[in-house]
Amino acid sequence: MRSAVGKIHGSASSFEFDFVVTNSKAVKRGDYIKVWNEKDGWVLAQVAEILAVDSPKLSEQYKSKEVLIAKARVLGKREEGKLKMPSSPFIPGDSVYTAEDSLIAETLGFAEDGIYIGLLGDTGVKVKLNPNTLVQKHVCILARTGSGKSYTAGVIIEELLDRNVPLLIIDPHGEYVSMKRPGKIRDNEFGVEPRGYAEKIVVYAPPTSPFIDSADRELSLDGINLTAEELIELSGLRSPTAQALLYQALRNLRNYTIADIIEEVEKIKHSGKWTLIGALSKIENSGLFKQKPTDPRTLLVRGKASLIDLRGIEPAYQNLIVSRVISELFELRKRGEVEPGMIVVEEAHNFAPEREKAVATNILRTVASEGRKFGLGLMVITQRPARIDKNVISQCNTQIILKVTNPNDINAIKKGIEGITAEIVEEIKRLPTGTAVVVSPELEVPVVVRIRVRKSMHSEATSITKEEEPQEEREEERKEEKEEKKGFLQRFFRSRRS
Ligand SMILES: Nc1ncnc2c1ncn2[C@@H]1O[C@H](COP(=O)(O)OP(=O)(O)O)[C@@H](O)[C@H]1O
Ligand SMILES: [Mg+2]
Repeated sequence: MRSAVGKIHGSASSFEFDFVVTNSKAVKRGDYIKVWNEKDGWVLAQVAEILAVDSPKLSEQYKSKEVLIAKARVLGKREEGKLKMPSSPFIPGDSVYTAEDSLIAETLGFAEDGIYIGLLGDTGVKVKLNPNTLVQKHVCILARTGSGKSYTAGVIIEELLDRNVPLLIIDPHGEYVSMKRPGKIRDNEFGVEPRGYAEKIVVYAPPTSPFIDSADRELSLDGINLTAEELIELSGLRSPTAQALLYQALRNLRNYTIADIIEEVEKIKHSGKWTLIGALSKIENSGLFKQKPTDPRTLLVRGKASLIDLRGIEPAYQNLIVSRVISELFELRKRGEVEPGMIVVEEAHNFAPEREKAVATNILRTVASEGRKFGLGLMVITQRPARIDKNVISQCNTQIILKVTNPNDINAIKKGIEGITAEIVEEIKRLPTGTAVVVSPELEVPVVVRIRVRKSMHSEATSITKEEEPQEEREEERKEEKEEKKGFLQRFFRSRRS
């Protein structure tokens, strides 16, 4: 057996204890340790904090000038499939040992054949999540730009494709197209072999896309029964008169095409109708709507990921595509006409923003709240936790959080996610790229995971829009941070005045 790394010190309960570190090289914050408990056997705990104390008594007792005291949080032991706290407290003076990987894996209860997302903390323990929980109960990936969200989403997509789970990927930057090719990885500690998913990924692009030539198939819509709100969004029609005329025309129509609306508007005796007709004609001629549109049944198929490459498409049209495609799939799924599967939405704050409603907001809320009943899961990815609809985020059972620094986003995470302690928040601010905090009811305790390398090729920032966006983002973040600081100063001065 390995030698002890510490001794329990002071008062200890069955939930937490302090220990004097006797081997400072072997103990770090976040490490997993074990202690023998008379009644329960080996119990797992984690180092929450390490403090250097100035105590002549302890210095003498441990024959060391500097004494380190570690605060440990008890995780418990696994019994009948559940994590249980020990029934009796630990005894001061008892030895603390480094926990071995097998004890950690067993205690935390990672699913044997689960979705392999990476390695636990500094250990070699593979973190595997239950695929059913992950898919059916939704997952969100939150982090600031450049910290590894899309990379992590790619890891999960690989695992799901390996299991032939039907996927639909909404890809505003076309960054998942590269998953067709194998990654350039060598031997790695994660034990991952390179592989591409060319035979499993089908790239769709709207007919108007500048990338249509590199797509596998065209994605078009039927343009039937577009709502007034959708038409106004698409056309950017601002005139209240034109908008009123549109509502008037739609009142007389059932099951209509855009041409039908134009015909109806033409009948109206009002000079303002020409602006509206112009706007409607522009939508009709956008090239997105076809007599024979894409059959949504082909978009959620076992063993395949349908990837909708939205690069170069105007935001209003992106929103309409997302809204229509997901709505149709949700209806088909309810009737059992497509298999259970998962919808991945990158840049989800653009499709379900917090402040104003977007065209796709309703359907994303619906899938978030009702999808699990019908076997339709959601993976939402966003760099702005503060800017995404809280109804969507709060429905995600599994949360994967990489580095976040913006105070508003931190607040959103604190408020929106259960089980996020002040300690975890501090951790999140300091996470290195590719390392995540994972919160899931299935795990019982949040864990830090070094996300594994990708089997397939990861591509970053290939489109123009992607390069423009972070700039805008940073501007916004700077503004928010300034406001936050202003708020702090105001509070500070107010408290000094009183
Ligand atoms: N788990 C990881 N392992 C190795 N490299 C990673 C990992 N996660 C992220 N990276 C690196 O960081 C870069 C940014 O990651 P990306 O997922 O594109 O960021 P985001 O989507 O959050 O903006 C990637 O191109 C990759 O080089
Ligand atoms: Mg990204």
